[in-house]
Amino acid sequence: MCGIVAYIGEKDATPVIVSGLRKLEYRGYDSAGIAVLQNGKIEIRRVAGKIEKLEKLVDENPTKGNIGIGHTRWATHGAPNEQNAHPHVGMAGRIVIVHNGIVENYLSLREELIAEGVEFKSETDTETIAHLIEGFYSESQDLYTAVQSALKLIKGAHGLVVMSTEEPDRLIAARLGNAGGVALGIGDGEMYLASDVPAIVEYTRRLIFLESGQVAIITKDGYSVNDLDGNPIQTEVVNVPWDPISVEKGRYRHFMQKEIHEQVRSLSDTMSGRVDFEEHRIHLKTLNLDEEKAKSIKKIFITACGTAAYAGMVGKYLIENIARIPVEVMVASEFRYCDPIIEPGTAVLAISQSGETADTLAAMEEARGKGALLLSIVNAIGSQAMRIANGFISMQVGPEIGVASTKAFTAPLLDLYMMAIYLADLRGTLSVEKRIDLVKDLLTVPGLVEKALKKEDAIKAIAAKYKSMKGALYLGRGVNMPIAYEGALKLKEISYKHAEGYPAGEMKHGPIALVDKDLPVVVIATRDAWYEKMISQIEQAKARNGHVLAVATEGDELIQNLADEVFWVPETPWLLSPVVNVIPLQLFAYHIAAQLGLDVDQPRNLAKSVTVE
Ligand code: F6R
Repeated sequence: MCGIVAYIGEKDATPVIVSGLRKLEYRGYDSAGIAVLQNGKIEIRRVAGKIEKLEKLVDENPTKGNIGIGHTRWATHGAPNEQNAHPHVGMAGRIVIVHNGIVENYLSLREELIAEGVEFKSETDTETIAHLIEGFYSESQDLYTAVQSALKLIKGAHGLVVMSTEEPDRLIAARLGNAGGVALGIGDGEMYLASDVPAIVEYTRRLIFLESGQVAIITKDGYSVNDLDGNPIQTEVVNVPWDPISVEKGRYRHFMQKEIHEQVRSLSDTMSGRVDFEEHRIHLKTLNLDEEKAKSIKKIFITACGTAAYAGMVGKYLIENIARIPVEVMVASEFRYCDPIIEPGTAVLAISQSGETADTLAAMEEARGKGALLLSIVNAIGSQAMRIANGFISMQVGPEIGVASTKAFTAPLLDLYMMAIYLADLRGTLSVEKRIDLVKDLLTVPGLVEKALKKEDAIKAIAAKYKSMKGALYLGRGVNMPIAYEGALKLKEISYKHAEGYPAGEMKHGPIALVDKDLPVVVIATRDAWYEKMISQIEQAKARNGHVLAVATEGDELIQNLADEVFWVPETPWLLSPVVNVIPLQLFAYHIAAQLGLDVDQPRNLAKSVTVE
């Protein structure tokens, strides 16, 4: 879950690496460090805390060299202090490493190394790799083979970059399993390395993504990639279309706020190239489906984590309603352990912003092993979840930096809606009239989201009134039930307030006992098939002195009179209403956390890509 950046070329490596780490701070932000080869010596600067502290340190005590590696950490083994911050050096000081992942057998390796006389300076598992590589290096005098040998001993999933004083013209990078990506960025007489594209997209868009079991030798003029046994591997250069501006905050105070507002554009972008406006058809070529394959699908499992799983729950309604294919949604961390029944005709659809979430990738592997047709909806281009699927939909929303996911929640909602239309069309189960109506509805969404965003000031004022609340209950029904979950998740992860999402109809079976004057109840009560039921929900909460905050359709006087506060949204076709209804809940959570002065973009204990299981 940590971030890695490295550079080799003619430039001063320090500013390139530190600015890259800044862009990856969302990956982990408890400590950071950099190592640069300066006049043949490894110069290390490390801090506990955020990248700005590292920036200060390198200003006060500069490092200068044309090759270096850097790291921003999300602690797994050892407290987040300076000693445990990466890079870590081997005992003889000739090898230095940055690492993402967990060495599962590090305790036994550590004991063996200690028995051989190695002195550990940190509590990290990573330091074992540094010592192992250095041990092998003294035998082979070749950094590449030393890394290769060490990788064969360590268990778990890893991404790492290694540098040595003895070979100042190269870096060695490797990926084992799903501990996060390792991308090589090709420059002109220089090479960049990063765990995630935003770190280096400012310099190059020509990238190679290492697969599991690949080791790369990188010099300033090029690279070669081999498998663990040293066999050369042909790699594909991917051109990444991201715009570097999108990894800057612009006029917004936080990335999260910027990304909430970006949704008008990101929702149009996710449709781009996929909607035939004349025929009112959807084309999703990268799904690699034809009529025969589409007709063979009898069941779809959707698997994902957190926010992405909530998008999947909405997807169940969309696919079942439009394409009439049964859908089961299961969080990825459970998928593998329930021995899922995958029969011929079962498709497994994974949804992931990062495309590197360890649980989601493990679920995909389980599905592949059982012979499922493997599909994915992914944002990060070139990520593992995109590469290992038989077919994918790219969200096309650009990098999402705020740790709390917003635009990468709404884009897959549209992708799922489009996928449902596409599947139904291929299977021949959708009438032309219905297809035209569904596509016309789809095209209205960015405009409706724009209208919902215009209410930000009113939402900010409501947030000011409720920012001291202890917690909240979020209720929704039908296609908007997952929006209650998502609204609650947004609030808890950035404001640290307890919030619970609940299917509204389940209230009376227990949670209603919680309702009193101190517990705000957020109710999604827009005009849809469940509207009347939601009104009675509001009545029930009011009867118990609850404070009701309702997401309601503009002009709804009944709700205006019943609820204490109203988040107004424009009238939206019901299948697409989750996309619009989540907007005020994102803004509400954002403004509460911002007004409390909390670290909105980097909430405590979290990291953007969760590459540990
Ligand atoms: C919440 C959030 C997380 C992610 C989850 C999956 O705001 O961001 O719940 O949705 O960790 O991440 P991805 O989509 O990268 O697989």
